Amino acid sequence: MSKFPKDFLWGGATAANQLEGAYNEGGKGLSTADMVKFVPRSVSKGANTETVSLEEVQNILDGKRDDEYYPKRWGVDFYHRYKEDIKLFAEMGFNVFRMSLNWGRIYPNGDDEEPNEEGLKFYDDVFDELAKYNIEPLVTLSHYETPLNLSIKYNGWENRKLIKFFENYATTVFKRYKDKVKYWMPFNEINMILHLAYTGGGIFIEKSENELQTTFQALHHQLVASASVTKIARSINPDFQIGSMLGMSLYYPKTNHPDDVLAAQYANRVNYYFLDILSKGEYPNYAWAYFKKKGIELVIEKDDLKLLKENTVDYNSFSYYYSLCAGSIHDEQSLVSFIPEHDFDEFHPKKAKNENLKVTDWGFQIDPIGFRIAINEVWDRYKKPIIISENGLGTTDILEEDKTIHDDYRIDYLREHIREMRVCIEEGVDIIGYTSWGPIDIVSAGTTERSKRYGYIYVDADDYGNGTFDRYKKDSFYWYKKVIASNGEDL
Ligand code: BG6
Repeated sequence: MSKFPKDFLWGGATAANQLEGAYNEGGKGLSTADMVKFVPRSVSKGANTETVSLEEVQNILDGKRDDEYYPKRWGVDFYHRYKEDIKLFAEMGFNVFRMSLNWGRIYPNGDDEEPNEEGLKFYDDVFDELAKYNIEPLVTLSHYETPLNLSIKYNGWENRKLIKFFENYATTVFKRYKDKVKYWMPFNEINMILHLAYTGGGIFIEKSENELQTTFQALHHQLVASASVTKIARSINPDFQIGSMLGMSLYYPKTNHPDDVLAAQYANRVNYYFLDILSKGEYPNYAWAYFKKKGIELVIEKDDLKLLKENTVDYNSFSYYYSLCAGSIHDEQSLVSFIPEHDFDEFHPKKAKNENLKVTDWGFQIDPIGFRIAINEVWDRYKKPIIISENGLGTTDILEEDKTIHDDYRIDYLREHIREMRVCIEEGVDIIGYTSWGPIDIVSAGTTERSKRYGYIYVDADDYGNGTFDRYKKDSFYWYKKVIASNGEDL
């Protein structure tokens, strides 16, 4: 008998801005993601390229940069091909599909009085198509696609007014889809705003005099918005399930030196800080000490803390791709602060390498046991059902002449991770679903490449959008189908 629960949710996860395309169709307004240009790897060296300044955005809008290519505007054309794609998901046996609503399809400017019916209708059609195959939608409300107008006019989530706009948007979609969607997530990887303010919060950080102040204030607004829409959701349909979504950065101590163990413990607070607030409803005590030390004066309105306390999530979810090391690279500052002051690069495995692990071409350290550790940590701390909302291997694939794709490396990665997840379930962790990232190849969030592929389904399109965009089944397609059919037994 399978160790996975009988109604375990098996599927894949996506985001509208990386999948849909059709950036200017159906009445959609521009989003922050539509402004991120393609930078070849020879130039970016694999570094994250998703931050755009206000000046750049203005130049783009003024038509001064028409020679550039913006992959997220075109995604992989799900907008026109969703029926074909959902049919393929159904063929693999999916009973869940994680997707986001592109906020700007529904409120083109974010602050509009009325929603855009054409956008609402598009998602109705997608949900109806999923329902045909008994696939449950798992819907993210905000996945790195803030309406651009909200960034330009209000500097995104730095401004408290965004809470109201988000509540309007959430109320509209909760009411509209109350009988079609049960599982919701207000924000994707809510921690990302601290690292990538433009991506996570639609913020032009160069406008800020104090980056820490700006990002923690914006984060507070998102946390309050998250609790507030959770409250609204329950008033509309008490059966809704609302979850957290954390981008898990699991830190190991670099050595067994107590300084390194301490460094790792502090570094891991970069994860639990968010779940403490969303799942337990409280800012952790060290947050206040940290704000004081850094001179951050959070503006908290009268009922904010009460709202957070009373509207915690039903389940926790997180993405997991790799583990990291903390220790010698951390100087004293990280030992006394709970958020390591770093850019991603400092934590790149090149600098904090774990000799025991292999690294993908994109620098992600492959660590299935870390996945198990992360699951156990989240379960032990919060004791709420868990959905693994992202996991997977992003790499290049080769389309053979006979249109086959032999991606045994991806199968190996997923097999090892699912095996560790299965052990957690055997040991009593309440995991209710697993949605691997990008079940169909999509545009990379971090580097805007199409050639960084995660899918079971290959999309014939290159980084510049050349190709037929036709879909082909990879070897992993047949493998995942078998995994699902055996409810996780046949790995
Ligand atoms: C997560 C995001 O951080 O990682 C996704 O929620 C993203 O949007 C995924 O695509 C993988 O990252 P990347 O940069 O390889 O696309």
